[in-house]
Amino acid sequence: MPPRQPRRAAVQTLESWQAAGVSHIRPKRGTEKSAPPAAESTPVAAPPLPVVAPAPPADRQAALCQLAEVVSRCTRCTELARTRKQTVFGVGNPHAKVMFIGEAPGADEDKQGEPFVGRAGQLLNRIIVACGWQREEIYICNILRCRPPENRTPLPDEAANCREYLDGQINIIQPEYIVCWGSCAAQNLLGTTESIGKMRQRWFTYANARVLCTYHPSYLLRNPDAKKPVWDDMLLLLKEMGLKPPKLAT
Ligand code: URA
Ligand code: URA
Repeated sequence: MPPRQPRRAAVQTLESWQAAGVSHIRPKRGTEKSAPPAAESTPVAAPPLPVVAPAPPADRQAALCQLAEVVSRCTRCTELARTRKQTVFGVGNPHAKVMFIGEAPGADEDKQGEPFVGRAGQLLNRIIVACGWQREEIYICNILRCRPPENRTPLPDEAANCREYLDGQINIIQPEYIVCWGSCAAQNLLGTTESIGKMRQRWFTYANARVLCTYHPSYLLRNPDAKKPVWDDMLLLLKEMGLKPPKLAT
């Protein structure tokens, strides 16, 4: 009898791809014809595995649930799987136009199983409201689905292990806009080492989405002076979407 483990792993991988609506796999880099970049966007050479589904699955909620179930059993990062209370998959509208990507769950998120529910999350919620949205309208996830011990920065291997799940969520939701909050999200999604300060106020493309990068809400908690540039970035996003921020009572 052959060992069962490799087969199970392969089936799980296929299940998670299927859940993500993946119907074809991008050929190795260099063998494909690259799509022309969107005007005034900085094109980003996608890493080998984002597999861009031609169409989202009919039932996005079901596809997300199926992928979340696969993620909940993930042990690719031995240390994270051992130390997490639970995985933190993502939350929000499966039909969201806008996807937010943060870094990784912290202690509060690890406890509650939802991204951005701690202090940074409360600030993020205020930014969402200032833009005229409700939290439930958008989709929020992270580069990692497990809390790194002591909230250390995600390791490159961890981000790589979790990438298939992030790309799965992007494939299912097919957001028109992605906001990367902080340098971890921006650098990992776009495969660059450019600083967040140099990436903000510019448009990138990833999968079918236009991508904007800005400072992380945790950074704003430590550096309130950065709130103005983040608001400028949100205004750029709203303008691109043909929206205006609401006048809020002060
Ligand atoms: N910081 C993040 O980047 N993500 C969370 O979910 C919480 C805090
Ligand atoms: N450095 C980061 O990693 N993120 C920020 O948002 C700002 C500085």
